[in-house]
Amino acid sequence: MTTTPPLATVGLGLIFLITSGCLPSQKSTKGFVFPEGDLARGKSAFVELKCFECHEVEGVGGLPPPEIPADKVIVLGGEVRTTKTYGDLLTAIIHPAASVTARAVGRTDADEPMPTVNDVMTVQQMLDLVTFLSPQYVKLEPLYQDNLLP
Ligand code: HEC
Repeated sequence: MTTTPPLATVGLGLIFLITSGCLPSQKSTKGFVFPEGDLARGKSAFVELKCFECHEVEGVGGLPPPEIPADKVIVLGGEVRTTKTYGDLLTAIIHPAASVTARAVGRTDADEPMPTVNDVMTVQQMLDLVTFLSPQYVKLEPLYQDNLLP
C-alpha cells in the first residue's frame, strides 16, 4: 500500500529546499553534460567562422593569419590567466561579454567587440570548437569534471 505524504509535509520540504539553497537557480548548468566534439573539425570551424581574424591559437600552426593589427590580436590557449573551465570557454564563444576575460574589463553586451556567431554556428561546430581549443589551454581544468552526473 502506498501512502501519500500529507500536503503540509510536502510544503515544509519545499520551503526547506528553497531556503537552504538546494534548488538550482534558474540559470544553473547543473546536470548539463557536454558531448565531446572533434578536434580536427573544430580547427576547420575556427577558420570557417572567421575566429582567426582576431585570434591566434598558441602552439597551433596552419591557421590563416589574423586580419587585425598585431597588437590587437588575442592569443587563445597557453598559460591560462582567466579562462579556467570548459564552461568558461563555452561562455567566451557563445556569450562573449559574459566571459571571465570580458567581465574583468567591465564589458557589457553593448560594447563587446567580439561578434557572436550564434545564428550561424551549428551545435556540432560549437562542441568541436571547444574540443579544439580546450587542450591548447595549459592549465584548463579537465573536460567534463564538473558536469558528470553522479
Ligand atoms: C572581431 C574580433 C573577434 C573575432 C572575429 C572573434 N573574437 Fe574571440 N575575442 C575577441 C576579443 C576582443 C576577446 C577578449 C575578451 C572580450 O573582450 O570579450 C575575445 C575573447 C575570446 C575568448 C576568451 C579568451 C580567453 O582566454 O580569455 C575565446 C575563447 C574566444 N574569443 C574565441 C573565439 C572564437 C571561437 C571565435 C570564432 C567563433 C572568435 N573568438 C572570434 C575578439 C574576437
